[in-house]
Amino acid sequence: MLVGSILLEELNFVKGVAQHMFIRECVQRIIFWRNADRVGPDIPWTYWRLFFPKQMRRLCKKMFKAFGEGAEIRPGSYIVCCSRINIGRRVVVRPGSVFEADPRPGEQGIMIGDDVLLGPGVHIYVNNHDFDNPEVSTIDLPETPSKAVVVERGAWIGANAIILPGVVVGEHSVIGAGSVVTKSVPPYTIVAGNPARIIRALRQADAQATK
Ligand SMILES: CC(C)(COP(=O)(O)OP(=O)(O)OC[C@H]1O[C@@H](n2cnc3c(N)ncnc32)[C@H](O)[C@@H]1OP(=O)(O)O)[C@@H](O)C(=O)NCCC(=O)NCCS
Repeated sequence: MLVGSILLEELNFVKGVAQHMFIRECVQRIIFWRNADRVGPDIPWTYWRLFFPKQMRRLCKKMFKAFGEGAEIRPGSYIVCCSRINIGRRVVVRPGSVFEADPRPGEQGIMIGDDVLLGPGVHIYVNNHDFDNPEVSTIDLPETPSKAVVVERGAWIGANAIILPGVVVGEHSVIGAGSVVTKSVPPYTIVAGNPARIIRALRQADAQATK
């Protein structure tokens, strides 16, 4: 009888500690979500709001460096370091897209101009890891200084394209689906493939220049 009541007391104590720890973890996560400079699936605070246009706009206007009229971030996009990303007017970021700017002080961001059309699953990165020293384990690799990515007005980025650090996609250019863009793309030019190569120019004058 006595042993039973002692055991019960112990059990209640353990339960209390576990509950306390769980509540603590919940509070820590909520604080992290509130302060994170991110929008996307790992920040539920932001994620649910992308389903509701008014909520989405209010959130994005607050989070991004600039967020133009008519722009949309669709649920399932994942945006890191929003405060260094400019989204132009009438830009729609579709599900599966990932944009990662650099949160370190003085580092670089991403600039998407007005009327840019992005397919689903477009990835944009401004960073590389410094992998030159094989003695450093991969997980501890430092990051190199970042290079800004700019997508100029009216460009069309096909589904699942990947834009690497330092690339400028020129005005009204087209990036083929699934391309890996390693170098800047001149204006009014179609590129595709991995690495992306020029397919053709969209204007006669540019066609002469790209020959
Ligand atoms: C890039 C794109 C616009 C080119 O269209 P196009 O000018 O009609 O080009 P063509 O189909 O005539 O192809 C020209 C050449 O480029 C190649 N090519 C076209 N798209 C390519 C791509 N995404 N990746 C690699 N090569 C590609 C073709 O195989 C062809 O090569 P060849 O000359 O050796 O035969 C189109 O292929 C594309 O990728 N569209 C994106 C679609 C998309 O993502 N939609 C999502 C909705 S936003």
